[in-house]
Amino acid sequence: AVAALVTGTGLTVAPRAAPAAPHTHTYPAARPVGEPTKRFTLTAAKATVTVGGHPVAAWAFNGQVPGPELTATVGDVLEVTLRNTDIERGVTLHWHGYDVPNDQDGVPGLTQPAVLPGQQFVYRFRADQAGTYWYHTHEASDVGVRMGLYGVLVVRKTPATGVDVTMPVHTLAGRALPEPRTAPTRPGEPVRLRLLNTDSTTHRYALAGTAFQVAAIDGTDLTGPTSLVDTAVRIPAGGRYDLVFSAPAGPVGLFVDGRLVWSTGPVTAETSGWPVLDPLGYGAAAPVPFARFDRRFTLVLDRGLDLHGLLPRYAHTVNGAADPDIPPEVVHLGEIVKFTIVNRSLVVHPWHLHGHHVLILSRDGQPASGSPLWLDSFDVRPGEVWEVAFRADNPGAWANHCHNLAHAEAGMMLHLMYS
Ligand code: C2O
Ligand code: CU
Repeated sequence: AVAALVTGTGLTVAPRAAPAAPHTHTYPAARPVGEPTKRFTLTAAKATVTVGGHPVAAWAFNGQVPGPELTATVGDVLEVTLRNTDIERGVTLHWHGYDVPNDQDGVPGLTQPAVLPGQQFVYRFRADQAGTYWYHTHEASDVGVRMGLYGVLVVRKTPATGVDVTMPVHTLAGRALPEPRTAPTRPGEPVRLRLLNTDSTTHRYALAGTAFQVAAIDGTDLTGPTSLVDTAVRIPAGGRYDLVFSAPAGPVGLFVDGRLVWSTGPVTAETSGWPVLDPLGYGAAAPVPFARFDRRFTLVLDRGLDLHGLLPRYAHTVNGAADPDIPPEVVHLGEIVKFTIVNRSLVVHPWHLHGHHVLILSRDGQPASGSPLWLDSFDVRPGEVWEVAFRADNPGAWANHCHNLAHAEAGMMLHLMYS
């Protein structure tokens, strides 16, 4: 048991806590990444935070929800020390959308043991992807993230110029975050709004008062984005959109589900009737980089009875089974893998593969016609069929799951394994 606990990166077991390892699985050993250039410490603890003037019981990193914003520049080596004060269920850090080496991915029971009260774990990885990402606990992830154990990770190519704002949207104890803020801009100033959906359900975002472009989705820059006006975007659970514009003379406002969350001056707008951008047809097309597929698999999402436990329960299923009974999908290093997701259920499933970005090939048989979309989170709506592909270039054992975290915990989670 102890051997399994010490194979993770820098895990230390405090004398007063000597938990048994969850099972005999051997966790991947950390590989060297060089001297850290950016160091952070995140301490998870129960806390009371204020939302809309009301005290809310939360689980917080460093006493705040969201946790501290971690920023880095491409080339930095990040070192993040995670400590757990009193979250009994345990905590990990998963770098959502950041394709870190497997040993840093923060999935308890798969890449490391959960960090229990009194313990710590040190994460180290090189910041080689620019863009907007986030981190969150992956232990008891539904309650853990909902209670507040998440934060923003931004990696820039060069230091920020102009107005560069992060906007993680979250529902904490039934109250909507972020609280509205106003920040004036100078006309002509470049503005980048980094929108993150850290909830388990889709949100609708509308930017009023300016033309704008979608510069990036899920951390990946789009090619040739065109200007949009009076158009909403819908961001799946876990997803990120970066919107850019040049500040106009008049006020600009960002509305989330009709609620004003950010503005540059007094603004009102009725945005509910605006069309919603379809990212599969946005921006300039480019040829699909994959000439062949070495491997294919299909995931059929549904709802069903899980008879695995002591009591039967309703589960969210993949190919008729629920976690932990879903067989892993196995790939080999270097393969180009295509997989199809079929949603036979009546609810949307925001899909998320760890450790890789997937290229969207088609939805309901319609090829993606716009800028290549390399996503890590995408909504598969009831009845839809998505075809996606990825390059198997990041060896390890990876979670592949629905990012409605209640669904993931009710069975909709499988593993992608390299053999
Ligand atoms: Cu953002 Cu497996 O999670
Ligand atoms: Cu789901």
